[in-house]
Amino acid sequence: MVDISVSIAGLHLRNPTMLASGVLGMSGKLLKRVASAGAGAVVTKSIGPKPRPGHPNPTFVELPYGYLNAMGLPNPGIDEFVQEIKIAKESGVPVIVSVFGQSPEEFAYVAERAEKAGASAIEVNVSCPHAEVGLIGQDPVLTREVVRSVKERVKIPVFVKLTPNVTDITEIACAAEKAGADAVTAINTVKAMYIDIESAKPVLSNKIGGLSGPAIKPIAIRCVYEIYESVRIPIIGVGGIQNWKDAVEFFLAGASAIQVGSGVIMGLNIFRDICGGIKRYLERKGFTKLREIIGLAHR
Ligand code: SIN
Repeated sequence: MVDISVSIAGLHLRNPTMLASGVLGMSGKLLKRVASAGAGAVVTKSIGPKPRPGHPNPTFVELPYGYLNAMGLPNPGIDEFVQEIKIAKESGVPVIVSVFGQSPEEFAYVAERAEKAGASAIEVNVSCPHAEVGLIGQDPVLTREVVRSVKERVKIPVFVKLTPNVTDITEIACAAEKAGADAVTAINTVKAMYIDIESAKPVLSNKIGGLSGPAIKPIAIRCVYEIYESVRIPIIGVGGIQNWKDAVEFFLAGASAIQVGSGVIMGLNIFRDICGGIKRYLERKGFTKLREIIGLAHR
């Protein structure tokens, strides 16, 4: 029997799959369903200090090669959301709360409240490609300030979700590591746009959004590969994962765990299917533990 359990900064996962932030993560009940479907951990939608309506519609468009969204970080605010964290905790899998704010203090405040509500870890979202907070993740100094502030206030592990919309993602990963981050999540969506040629207007109300899905997988793999050579903390890979082969590619590039975002559109079976495929791959290749293949492509 091969062992595909993983430990990220002391957080034990029965398998290396997680639900990515932003998908089905606004409700405790849905997070429980994802856990029952086999995910090793779940990440909530990004939560801020107060309720936020997000951008007006249209906020989401399906493209032949991926999905473009600019939701605008809609969320009920942490005071309301603590209830959902408590419900999600009933699932028994780690519940990672994605947090954002306008300042290091706001990030820390939300993280502290999430920890008190039972969060297993925090994922700091400094990387939304079309909101002001996304700018933080493009600047190593601001990233360091936010991560330090969160680390000072919580005891649970802190992950930092990185943006690919920078010249050198390793610079930001290193800044996060120096500030005490326990892991980095790579990558958030790629800044993108879609124009309807009949109306001659951008389709999204926000005009610019973030691209996810299969189109961004090679970008995400490149980012994970580069980060692996630059930091010692674990990397959680995300971006366009649709099946076990995609997941294995992320492990070989250096990811210790993976997240599935828009891939859940194909159905929640995706978590069990990915785990089954990883196990068969490891057996076929003569490995006994998932960790034996992490970073193998760097030989
Ligand atoms: C959004 O809510 O607009 C997306 C959040 C993100 O990409 O971080």
